[in-house]
Amino acid sequence: MSGLLRCYSFHSVKGGVGKSTLSVLTALGLAQRGAQVTLVDMDLTGTSLADVLPLEAPAWEDLEPSAALALLRPPTGFLSHEETRDRMELRDELASEAIERDPEGAEALVPRCVPFLNDFLLFATPDWDEQRDVDIRTMLWRMQGVPHESLRVVPSSALPSDLDRTLPVIFDENHSGFLEGRLEYLLEALVPGQGEAVVVVDTPPTIPGLSRAVLSLALRLSREPKRPLADDGFMPERLRAARVEWTAFLVGSMDLQDIRAANRWLSQVGEEERPHVRFLVNRIQEGDEHQLQELLKDRIGHEPNPLLNAPAHVKDDRMLRFFRSAAVPAIPDSALGFLEEG
Ligand SMILES: Nc1ncnc2c1ncn2[C@@H]1O[C@H](COP(=O)(O)OP(=O)(O)O)[C@@H](O)[C@H]1O
Ligand SMILES: [Mg+2]
Repeated sequence: MSGLLRCYSFHSVKGGVGKSTLSVLTALGLAQRGAQVTLVDMDLTGTSLADVLPLEAPAWEDLEPSAALALLRPPTGFLSHEETRDRMELRDELASEAIERDPEGAEALVPRCVPFLNDFLLFATPDWDEQRDVDIRTMLWRMQGVPHESLRVVPSSALPSDLDRTLPVIFDENHSGFLEGRLEYLLEALVPGQGEAVVVVDTPPTIPGLSRAVLSLALRLSREPKRPLADDGFMPERLRAARVEWTAFLVGSMDLQDIRAANRWLSQVGEEERPHVRFLVNRIQEGDEHQLQELLKDRIGHEPNPLLNAPAHVKDDRMLRFFRSAAVPAIPDSALGFLEEG
């Protein structure tokens, strides 16, 4: 028996439009309403959620702070937020030294100190099989002040040494199938035995690359029978059996260039894929939401694209600038209205 995986992903043509803000808003808001949520920070090219949120990394009490991570077995607890910050620095130092000694050497690739999504995605040992894959619990960080049962965060790393190690893989089109396959395994591990689990995915700006891998996964899993990644028809078993409901938001602003770019992109979305894709206009000014459709028409003319004509929207709101603040905000119902069907 497999339950329901309710997924939301946030994509954008440009950076800085609010993907990360909306991802955290969604994850936190639903967690505070009793859902069991995992927030996956897939923006491996930019700011890490570990840099802007009060996160606590998983830890193994029998490991030295600088030891290689034991990704095959469950962690025994969590570091404090301060310890987490220190270990992130240590990770960067150790990796930079190893890369300097031998950039191509195996030592340069060993994940240490705190686990990041990077380590899950790039995990490939010579003896890999499904039984010898990363234990998903090693990836699930805690947010200070929020029960771990309701919210788990999988941050990516924006440490310079990690960018050195990860970017060449991400920007190599030959690896996009490999990365999408790793994402599939990540989701497989998050399928609940029964009931419902929520997964929120933040992606890097621009649609090609990782963002497209997420989108491709979303559309493959949103149909029955689900479409496998590989020609051999393989798909992880629990994922195949799960019910998946996925909404991919293309986030933009009221900026003319942004709306034109969104329009171009949305016109590529096939008819049977449209139910899973929504345009979201972020940072709407007070009062503009009632005439949003008119404002959009003003900017691009009467476009037939149905996705552009019924956008979700989120207001420009000081309350949503919660990055780098000490306390986790209580999300009001009104801020989650965009998740309802348009
Ligand atoms: N609805 C909003 N209201 C107010 N500020 C916002 C809103 N959405 C995003 N911001 C602010 O805009 C900036 C960029 O947002 P961010 O989520 O980091 O964008 P992205 O992840 O797309 O690069 C941040 O400073 C964030 O606080
Ligand atoms: Mg971001």
